[in-house]
Amino acid sequence: MAIRIVREDGDETLRKKSREVEIVDDRIREILNDMVETLHNYNGVGLAGPQIGLLKRLVVIDLYDNKGPIKLVNPKIIKQKGEQEVEEGCLSFPNQFAKIIRPAEVVVEALNENGKKVKIKGEGLLAQAISHELDHLDGILFVDKIIPGTLKYVTPEEQEENK
Ligand code: NI
Repeated sequence: MAIRIVREDGDETLRKKSREVEIVDDRIREILNDMVETLHNYNGVGLAGPQIGLLKRLVVIDLYDNKGPIKLVNPKIIKQKGEQEVEEGCLSFPNQFAKIIRPAEVVVEALNENGKKVKIKGEGLLAQAISHELDHLDGILFVDKIIPGTLKYVTPEEQEENK
C-alpha cells in the first residue's frame, strides 16, 4: 500500500471525465487500497480516481463508522430523493468550505472490489459523500455548486480551535 499525492485545484485532471473500469483485478484492488490509505492519511471522508491523477471510475468513502471504508468501481446513482443543505469541503481544495445542496438520499449501483454488483442506499452524510465523489468522476467539483456567498477559508489551526 502507498499514500498517493492528492491533486489540488488547478490540476487539469480534476476537470476530466473518468473512464469505466473494464476488469476489477489485483491492480484495481491495489489502487483502491492506496486510495483508502491516502484518504485516511488526509482525514478525508471520500476520494475519487481523478484526485490521485487516475481517470478511472473509482471511489472510496469512509464515514469512520463501523461499516469500514466503502470501495466503489463504476458507481452510478440510480435513484435520488430530496435535498439537504450541507457544509462541505474537498481534499483537492484545502481549507475551503462552502454550503451546497446535495440529495438527501441516493441509491448507488457499483461493483465492489471483487467485481460483484452491489447496491448501496445512503442518507445524510453518506448521500452527500456519494454525490460529491461521483461528481469528481465527471470533472464536476464542489466549487461549481456552492451557494453564493458561503465560501470560506478555514486553516487547520482554526479547525482545531472549533472542535
Ligand atoms: Ni472532493
